[in-house]
Amino acid sequence: MAGSRMKSWFPTTASPLIINAPMKGVANIKLATEVAKVGGLGFIQFGRDFEPGSSTLKQLDDELSQAWKLLGLETSKDDGSTLPIGVGILTYMPSARHFGETVVPILKRHRPAAIWLFAPSPETPETHSNIVKEIKSQGSPWNPKIVVQVGSVAAAREAATHGADIIVAQGVDAGGHQWAQGAGIISLVPEIIDVVRNEFPDREIAVWAAGGIGDGRGAAAALALGAEGTVLGTRYIVALESDAQDYKKKAIIATSDGGFNTVKSYFHDHVQGDLSWPELYDGRAIVTPTYQDHASGVPLEESQKRLKAAQESGDVSKLVTWSGTGVGLIKKEQPAAEITKEVREQALGAIAKVKSFL
Ligand SMILES: Cc1cc2nc3c(=O)[nH]c(=O)nc-3n(C[C@H](O)[C@H](O)[C@H](O)COP(=O)(O)O)c2cc1C
Repeated sequence: MAGSRMKSWFPTTASPLIINAPMKGVANIKLATEVAKVGGLGFIQFGRDFEPGSSTLKQLDDELSQAWKLLGLETSKDDGSTLPIGVGILTYMPSARHFGETVVPILKRHRPAAIWLFAPSPETPETHSNIVKEIKSQGSPWNPKIVVQVGSVAAAREAATHGADIIVAQGVDAGGHQWAQGAGIISLVPEIIDVVRNEFPDREIAVWAAGGIGDGRGAAAALALGAEGTVLGTRYIVALESDAQDYKKKAIIATSDGGFNTVKSYFHDHVQGDLSWPELYDGRAIVTPTYQDHASGVPLEESQKRLKAAQESGDVSKLVTWSGTGVGLIKKEQPAAEITKEVREQALGAIAKVKSFL
């Protein structure tokens, strides 16, 4: 049974499995461990600089050391015991080639239960298979599940070929970065499940769903589609423990009707001067006056000037807030543990309600 498979892979978790997305600038160790304490699967997000000596490497080491303490676990045992949280890794930067040399030793020391890979560059298609090999060949009892987030069926097939244990089907309702062209989870999740079952019959690969899931009703729908775990990103931005700036939390709580008031575009990166993402990926964020100017023809350079002026004057209404279309379901700031329990219980309630209709 699906529920028992996730429980056997992640023994500290409860069913249905609720996961916080590893989000840059949001998902810190406090948030991830609070999710883990109540039976969710918590993820932190590693920065994107893998160069030897980078400050993000030290931060990863420090955060994972703290995780053992925050969860009240013994760190010193090198017996293959697992740290019951996961680490997200953004893989599109050229420095990802240093992963084996710089990141693996830290991960091997702390033994997180899962490693989540997202957004390889099409120019270096070997990145994920190399990372998987480097993790699998590090020669210790630590054997994390490899999670790969994808936005297309073709990318899911590739992820399975590269050795993913779990494929996150990320639909276009998702907040933040994602495939520029894609589908919602309602069609993406079942098609990926069929491909995994039919084309990789000898492998044990699970599928999780992400994108636009704001509460337990969405989580129940994802389970009905066959997903064995539900990933929420935007909902956890407003967690008390999140690193997101206050104005972002307020913008999310104040925004409703996410299909109308959020938009998927390259503009959000470009206006902030971030040209590092491959063209394969764009991002979804709340519609702001800055975006509306762009949509009405204001040139990029002028938009960048206006954004800079807004930053300097503290006009936060013009700043970028990444968000999924589920934003209208998010009404208040809450502890991450409370979000996790609430979504899980609401999902169980929604499933019971469906049964009562039949
Ligand atoms: C603020 C923000 C930052 C994100 N950062 C990352 C990241 O660093 N790595 C990653 O794999 N996904 C990242 N994502 C995407 C999430 O993994 C996930 O697909 C998405 O949040 C799910 O959609 P939802 O926000 O509607 O729940 C981010 C999403 C948001 C909203």
